[in-house]
Amino acid sequence: MSSVRRPLAIVTRALPDGWLDSLVPHCDLVIGPADRPGWCDATWSRLPEAEGIFAMLTEPIDAAVLARAPKLRVVSNMAVGVDNIDLEACRARGIAIGHTPGVLTEATADLTLALILAWSRRVLEAAADARQGAWTTWSPTGWLGRDLGGATLGLLGFGKIARAVCRRALGFGMRVRYHQRSSTDDHAGATPVGLDELLADSDIVSVHVPLSASTRGLVGPGAFARMRADALLVNTARGPIVDRTALLDALVHGRIAGAALDVTDPEPLPPDDPLYRLPNVLVLPHIGSATTGTRRAMAELACANLLAGLRGLPLPHAIAPAR
Ligand code: DGY
Repeated sequence: MSSVRRPLAIVTRALPDGWLDSLVPHCDLVIGPADRPGWCDATWSRLPEAEGIFAMLTEPIDAAVLARAPKLRVVSNMAVGVDNIDLEACRARGIAIGHTPGVLTEATADLTLALILAWSRRVLEAAADARQGAWTTWSPTGWLGRDLGGATLGLLGFGKIARAVCRRALGFGMRVRYHQRSSTDDHAGATPVGLDELLADSDIVSVHVPLSASTRGLVGPGAFARMRADALLVNTARGPIVDRTALLDALVHGRIAGAALDVTDPEPLPPDDPLYRLPNVLVLPHIGSATTGTRRAMAELACANLLAGLRGLPLPHAIAPAR
């Protein structure tokens, strides 16, 4: 009796029951622990046999991993960002790379607005005060924040998530400007401006570019020098796009008014990081896509990419080869 050979795929972190069901009939799976990032003995020891990796952003797919995985044909990231993957090395080996665009757009845009609202209306501080008994009266000057209506939002990058943020911001009565390197005719109600103008004129600067060699440290000392002293910086993209030393310096010396960050450099941000001690900084633990529906949809796309790669077919959502 002939048996059909099943390829081996590694899933770097465990996922809830059912999220990987579409893979089960087609490949053998080795699955890492849910609660610990990085490679564990179980996943690392099977890399030499693996033809596919279903990766999370917490696991680098770097030279060491690729050298240990000579049979690898596809890396499917359960994320839209692929900065954890050595793209050039994968391309050089002909390894297909998949990601999960689209399905996390709305959730991430929602969280961007949540950060803007929470910071601007001092939501966390006011809630903590109420809980701790500091709400002794309604006060005409208590917990005063900032209006969103009429404020200028500057979007750095104008991809899917930035556009979804733009739609929401227009609904709040904000003026929206954006800067991106490539030009488009579809401004979605926002005004395209140069980078300097965006930085100098925005009440809120929100980062929406992918992390790459050209965007690492993009928001650095020069950007903070151009921003307004009353501006808020929001980052729901990737931490290293903002130069951490320059950010701390700008916050401590009042060069900007504050920062609302869902992503940091490093991640996780250690509990003793000075950013946590600044009252004008709001830090979340990278939860932009963290809704059950969104994460499940990301897993489904990542499964579809992985299966296509194992079958030698074009991935439904591939990272295009470098030109
Ligand atoms: C992504 O998909 O890149 C997100 O950062 C994960 O939440």
